[in-house]
Amino acid sequence: MHVFRTIAEMQAAARQWHRAGQTIGLVPTMGYLHAGHLSLVALAKADCAVVVVSIFVNPTQFGPTEDLARYPRDFERDAALCREAGVDAIFAPEPAEMYAADASVWVTEEQLSQPLCGARRPGHFRGVTTVVAKLFNAVLPDVAVFGQKDAQQALVLQRLVRDLNFPVDVRIGTIHREADGLAMSSRNVYLSPDERRRAVAISRGVRAAEAAYAAGERDGAVLCAVAHNAITAAGGRPDYVELRSRHDLRELAEASEPAVLAVAAFFGATRLLDNTFLG
Ligand code: PAF
Repeated sequence: MHVFRTIAEMQAAARQWHRAGQTIGLVPTMGYLHAGHLSLVALAKADCAVVVVSIFVNPTQFGPTEDLARYPRDFERDAALCREAGVDAIFAPEPAEMYAADASVWVTEEQLSQPLCGARRPGHFRGVTTVVAKLFNAVLPDVAVFGQKDAQQALVLQRLVRDLNFPVDVRIGTIHREADGLAMSSRNVYLSPDERRRAVAISRGVRAAEAAYAAGERDGAVLCAVAHNAITAAGGRPDYVELRSRHDLRELAEASEPAVLAVAAFFGATRLLDNTFLG
């Protein structure tokens, strides 16, 4: 398995693979890999000759009061997991390799990135779209795989690829869950044992909303209240629970078209995401 630290090395290898007629699959990550990431690697491996995992804790997608400095990192463990999973190369640049000190060009998406996490984390999606565009230019992938847990991110990145004509096929892998249902996330390590036990209420709330939908409930306020109440009953603090169009993230009063019920909630200081598709 190769480890590339510079864009030039990464691009040279990618060009060589392309010349040899090999397709490249990219799984962009911020490291501290878990089984959810590895399921995205498996998706990439199924369709691509070469799989690259990028590991880069992207400073530009963190707000000034967020967890950039303490974001969990363990490169050796990540590398071992990648090797075991049959990854061909890791692209792990330092921030200075990715961003010139006087960088002044940004990639912004101006519609899908506005509500939900975009409204609560100003600048977050600008950092995500910019770094993903840069990762595409470094790794030159044919396929890129992202996780459904970040449902809004997945939509924003599909729009990035469509609107800037990146020759990349974006695939979205389903949410991977712990045995009790909690969506896997690198940030789960922040939870104290007590918070970890209670945080399962997020997925329980999402499941309860799914059950209400399956029983015929279509009122957005009711579906959201079901998830909201499960979280508050466990001592969590919902940041948002919203029913939105799965197509363009318009807020929906009724689940009368394909919808996503999207949740962000705090347990202690840790903010976690989950979601489900309805319809
Ligand atoms: O989902 C993530 O881990 C990050 O937002 C991504 C897509 C790797 C960009 O830094």
